[in-house]
Amino acid sequence: MASTDIATQKTSIRGLGKHAIMPELRCDDEYLLNYQMALSKFLREKVQTKNINIYKKKVEPVFKKKYGRSPKSRHEVRKAMLKEPAYQWWACLRRHLQEQSSSFKFPIVERQVDSLSEIAKNYRKKKGLGSLKLNNKIPYPKYQTAMDMHWMPGSYHTEVSDYDVFSGAMYDLGGLYIGTGGKMGPYNDGPGWAAINWLNKKYPKFSPKKILDQGCTVGHSTLAYAEAWPKAEITGIDFAAPVLRYAHARAESLNKKISFVQSLAEKTDFESNTFDLVISSMFLHETSTKAIKELFSETFRLLKPGGLMLHIEQPPFHLMKTVFEQFEMDWDTHNNNEPFWGPMHDLNLVKISSDSGFKKFKTFEEFCPFVIPQDDKSIKVAKAGNWFLFGAWK
Ligand SMILES: C[S@@+](CC[C@H](N)C(=O)[O-])C[C@H]1O[C@@H](n2cnc3c(N)ncnc32)[C@H](O)[C@@H]1O
Repeated sequence: MASTDIATQKTSIRGLGKHAIMPELRCDDEYLLNYQMALSKFLREKVQTKNINIYKKKVEPVFKKKYGRSPKSRHEVRKAMLKEPAYQWWACLRRHLQEQSSSFKFPIVERQVDSLSEIAKNYRKKKGLGSLKLNNKIPYPKYQTAMDMHWMPGSYHTEVSDYDVFSGAMYDLGGLYIGTGGKMGPYNDGPGWAAINWLNKKYPKFSPKKILDQGCTVGHSTLAYAEAWPKAEITGIDFAAPVLRYAHARAESLNKKISFVQSLAEKTDFESNTFDLVISSMFLHETSTKAIKELFSETFRLLKPGGLMLHIEQPPFHLMKTVFEQFEMDWDTHNNNEPFWGPMHDLNLVKISSDSGFKKFKTFEEFCPFVIPQDDKSIKVAKAGNWFLFGAWK
């Protein structure tokens, strides 16, 4: 039985969940990806954990001596930490690992992209359980196209071939699994299961019949909702066609009935007052302030009275105890091509949601424990770690 301890995270890509459109791995591919998992685990457990000592023993005392006080913000901590060679070494390796992940996966996907496209096409032709509705008129948001999101070449939307599934395959091939040591489960649906587990405990009577997953990518957590609420009608939306084509084939091959629709979350064609649950996982921080305002308003329009908006994210800065924690959490803003990461975690989401129509007293900011889906499909609540939930009832 897999343990939930961080110290025993997995170091083999073989645990990644299988389905019909997952790129096949040769032994040399496995070797490279396993090396990445092991290095990632080593950096997280043995090197990153020392950063706090560097700060406490060296950086903070020097800062105090100079300014007569401790650093007041994550920005001051960062400026001071950047001068430390040991911190530079960790940060450089972590960034290298992220870029290396793309460069290792790129040739694996590239050599089989045509056959993966064929698999996706065939699932589209069949009368399957779910559906896929594409719309090539969707304008690509600038906050997505301006850079390669977390160093993924071409981000989510770039198309290089007929019926392109490239970015779907790149995303599914272990980015999260490698980076977290399998902590999100073989199918990377841990965030979805954490929200389900929290809802089941806190609102046992809540049983959504119609669910919308915003920014669903390849449907990792979307499929968890289908498993948890098998009678519900579930739709996953994303603006990017390549991840949706992949998501559709993946869901069909895993026998899950999902409707995938290419759409901006800010402006959908769905009818008003029709959804019981509008949910997202790890989505808001890859958008923009304007987009969040628009998509909260759109969510308010889509929800039935009594329906729930729920976003699964990392915690905002104001809920973190120390400026050092805030500084660590802000790493991606400066190093991982995720420029909105920091600004998003500074936003006043309560204000934005009440400006969008939600009542303040029906809005909440909560933590829910990580859960780790197991190979046998059971879920385990982790001993450490939380997701942040931002939600509002209509
Ligand atoms: C980090 S991924 C989300 C991960 C996914 N929810 C999961 O649990 O694996 C962000 C996704 O949001 C999509 N996206 C970004 N902006 C969007 C928008 N305005 N409307 C719809 N999808 C969007 C991206 O294409 C990408 O697939």
